[in-house]
Amino acid sequence: MQIAAEFITSVASASGLPRDGLSELAMVGRSNVGKSTLINALVRQKIARTSAEPGKTRLANFYRVRRGTSPPMYLVDLPGYGYARRASGTEVRGAAAIEFAKLTDAFFDQGRGGRNPDGTTGTKAIGVLLLVDSRHPGLESDLDAWAWLSSTGRPCRVVGTKADKLSRAEKVRHGRELESLFDGPVPLVSASTGEGMDELWTLIARLPKPTAG
Ligand code: GTP
Ligand code: MG
Repeated sequence: MQIAAEFITSVASASGLPRDGLSELAMVGRSNVGKSTLINALVRQKIARTSAEPGKTRLANFYRVRRGTSPPMYLVDLPGYGYARRASGTEVRGAAAIEFAKLTDAFFDQGRGGRNPDGTTGTKAIGVLLLVDSRHPGLESDLDAWAWLSSTGRPCRVVGTKADKLSRAEKVRHGRELESLFDGPVPLVSASTGEGMDELWTLIARLPKPTAG
């Protein structure tokens, strides 16, 4: 399957969010869980910057992606939550933390509309992938994020990352635990080995049509 992907924009605040009406799929999850790496694995290109240090992605980065004959969409790389320190050792608190929260809130704003390619104005169709580290099912911050995301009414699915780090037995055990915690199927994927990537594309294609809003 042919995949075309290009970086479109980096957004620091609500005013910069694209309003062109393309549907969006947002990567949400703890810092360092593998959001940017998963985008690269999905599109088979190194378009998103990754790092072993948490806190790499500071802005909302929009990538326009077209897979096969499907309509184009944005994959959106959002800043991660739940890390206490920057590489410099200073804590991300106060103004910086508030900026992150504001950006995420604006991103999920129910009322965010857009102009469609045909010139009509429409509402954004936003789906969400909540990425959790498959080695650590049930972290409080992930459960909190899930509860909050569910409350936004956006279609949301959970994906377990870094599956290459699990033994066969752990895959079964953690897989079951994740499915019971998040009340539905949780594919385990690895950007390193490519495991689960086709299943993930299938899941993306089958996300329920987001409700207008
Ligand atoms: P922030 O931008 O800080 O929110 O982090 P992120 O969620 O975008 O994480 P990123 O993609 O930068 O990856 C963090 C680290 O995890 C990097 O060192 C990656 O190489 C590593 N990583 C990501 N995916 C995988 C995976 O599937 N398997 C393994 N073994 N490592 C991975
Ligand atoms: Mg990142």
